[in-house]
Amino acid sequence: MQDKHSLWGGRFNEKADSRFNDFNSSFRFDYRLFEADIEASKAYAEALAGAGIFSQEECEKVCLALEDIKKNGIPPEAINSRDFEDVHTFIESSLVSLVGDLGKKLHTGRSRNDQVATAFRLWIISACDEIIALVKVLCLRLTESAERNFDVILPGYTHLQRAQPILWSHWCLAYFEMLARDRSRFLLCRQSATVLPLGSGALAGTSASINRNQLALNLGFTKPSANSLDAVSDRDFALDFTYAASALQVHLSRLAEDLILYSSQEFGFVLLSDKFSSGSSLMPQKKNPDALELIRGKSGRIFGNHFSLLAMLKALPLAYNKDLQEDKEAVFDTFDTICGCLEMASLMIETIELDQNRCLDAAQKGYLNATELADYLVRRGIPFRSAHEIAGRAVLRAIEMQVELNELSIEDLRKIEPIIDPDVYDSLKITSTLATKSVIGGTAPEMVKQALIKAKNDLNSW
Ligand code: ARG
Repeated sequence: MQDKHSLWGGRFNEKADSRFNDFNSSFRFDYRLFEADIEASKAYAEALAGAGIFSQEECEKVCLALEDIKKNGIPPEAINSRDFEDVHTFIESSLVSLVGDLGKKLHTGRSRNDQVATAFRLWIISACDEIIALVKVLCLRLTESAERNFDVILPGYTHLQRAQPILWSHWCLAYFEMLARDRSRFLLCRQSATVLPLGSGALAGTSASINRNQLALNLGFTKPSANSLDAVSDRDFALDFTYAASALQVHLSRLAEDLILYSSQEFGFVLLSDKFSSGSSLMPQKKNPDALELIRGKSGRIFGNHFSLLAMLKALPLAYNKDLQEDKEAVFDTFDTICGCLEMASLMIETIELDQNRCLDAAQKGYLNATELADYLVRRGIPFRSAHEIAGRAVLRAIEMQVELNELSIEDLRKIEPIIDPDVYDSLKITSTLATKSVIGGTAPEMVKQALIKAKNDLNSW
């Protein structure tokens, strides 16, 4: 007893209940594997021809029909109809309606288990490529912003308390570094996805004598999988994907959070473009950083998708189980979400304006040069711990007098530590504070300039 488009039925006496069909079907989301599955099917047809199961002519006929199916796309009503269990069922029944029994022959030695693993891997490979391209755009925007605002100085924070001045360009390049690591993670994920499951059959390997090495090469994989049981049940590549996306999302959420803070009136460092902010339905004065908040807020679903894959895979007995059908929505949603966040983050970095004076003002208030005073004393031969203590007392004195360190008179400073000379004021200047951080990776302008050149060179080679 077989439903019209069903791939099985011989051993059944009754038709499937429509409620079961609805529950079982994945077509409404796995239609996204359409092109990948067609590519894999064409390559499989050639492999069957190589094995003498298809004649060359039959193979060509099947491949042309598959091309036709691809060209015509999936009619929207087919996705919503309950006729097809999944995208593989749809493609096979379209093929049979075009070439008849030849279409039925394509499944020789193939199972949907190795078929879906193959199509999913192909899909993830191109998803990695798309994400890597979007990461590059964001990195480009960061280097442009670093260049445009190279000299802007703002406070750097620890514990969200003003700590030491930094260059805006240094802030930009911090995110560049994170994103460069994210890029590497997606490259690794891409690599882990390029092992070919096709030819593993349902679980034990195919009985069709196909050349799997050739098939792997034809589909752009590096090699065929080494164990059929593993191949049909392995979703490590999907985990790599949702993990890489989670790490990337951590970075995007931190960037978003920094900009949310910096654009608040309390900080006032950054002005958001009207084009990417929203107002309040009640409070006329409001300009809200919705885009940034959404980037931050979407972290939950990206981390959640990673966890849902882990939970789905945990303790799953070998080999294929229908649980594995639950892998796709997590991955698709992660892809859509992370692409949206990357695009929006790039637009935000491109369109924000800095309030250079507010930034500088904040960097000059709150004793961000106290470490410099300690370092000055160290240069005068005082051990750092004692210098730290003396500089702390100077800060306390300045707080009492409601002035900054450089506004203390030389007499006041000498009361705290007689070794201090008027040249201390040079050291307390914000430009000196920055210039002293001239170590590799430091925020001294000359170092940041070099880092920016390196970042731009890296980008050229990506
Ligand atoms: N739609 C299924 C999935 O995504 C395809 C594999 C079905 N295999 C099976 N033995 N029922 O996992």
